[in-house]
Amino acid sequence: MLKKTDMSDLQLAGESTETGPSKDAFFSVRDIHAYYGESYIVQGISFDLQEGEILALLGRNGAGKTSTLRTLARVDDPALKSGEIYLAGESLHDKKAYQAAQMGIQLVPEDRRIIGGLTVEENLILAQVSEPRGWELERIYEHFPRLAERRTQIGTTLSGGEQQMLAVARALAREVKLLFLDEPYEGLAPVIVQEIEKIVRQIKELGITTIIVEQNAVAALKLADRAIIVDMGEIVYSGSAQDVLDDEDLRNEYLAI
Ligand SMILES: Nc1ncnc2c1ncn2[C@@H]1O[C@H](COP(=O)(O)OP(=O)(O)OP(=O)(O)O)[C@@H](O)[C@H]1O
Ligand SMILES: [Mg+2]
Repeated sequence: MLKKTDMSDLQLAGESTETGPSKDAFFSVRDIHAYYGESYIVQGISFDLQEGEILALLGRNGAGKTSTLRTLARVDDPALKSGEIYLAGESLHDKKAYQAAQMGIQLVPEDRRIIGGLTVEENLILAQVSEPRGWELERIYEHFPRLAERRTQIGTTLSGGEQQMLAVARALAREVKLLFLDEPYEGLAPVIVQEIEKIVRQIKELGITTIIVEQNAVAALKLADRAIIVDMGEIVYSGSAQDVLDDEDLRNEYLAI
């Protein structure tokens, strides 16, 4: 396990000292720092991801998980002040959120943002209005039979689990290369969590790279290949998901599970 004091080892391992796109990583994050106004929140996060990997981004409430995802998706707030981000060799740190979306980054936020007054199908069609488009409706319905059954239902009247499925389906309706899921299991019954897990596994099989932020760390770790734990805006652990599952001290210290 890498403690804060071992961060130099992490850098020696090649995770953050270089600049420019990494030769062998699909997604490279190099020492990013981001602020909400004067508040310094994301304090030097670095990691590399291979294509098709699932990364669990974990940490206590207020650790900076959502802020990290928002920074990576190039949302204005928090503002990225320094650091570099590359997707498939192309720089992201100099892009806006809409450009990041065009490059294939899709953030499914915690509140899911289903558009009121529109049916399930209209929510999906709306996602396909802007280029580049992703999956066709038929393909989405094959993967999400619950949504197919409810295609004419107003999206905001769906159950929490169904709304989460719609939010993920909407990301797939756009071209997605890198999917960010912010607490996808929040408030969902275990049986629905299993359905979402199944979908994330299918997405992985299609080669889509995913970062999952979850309070339900055990569920996220079982799905993930690798894990990062953040605390106060910094990485305090980076390694295999299985190692976190096996390390009770680490979980007690940073995850309260
Ligand atoms: N819009 C904002 N303006 C100022 N500070 C913010 C803003 N949003 C979040 N913060 C602060 O940034 C820190 C990190 O918040 P963030 O939402 O990234 O944490 P998190 O790890 O996602 O937590 P949680 O598990 O509760 O969702 C917190 O101290 C929070 O108060
Ligand atoms: Mg959060």
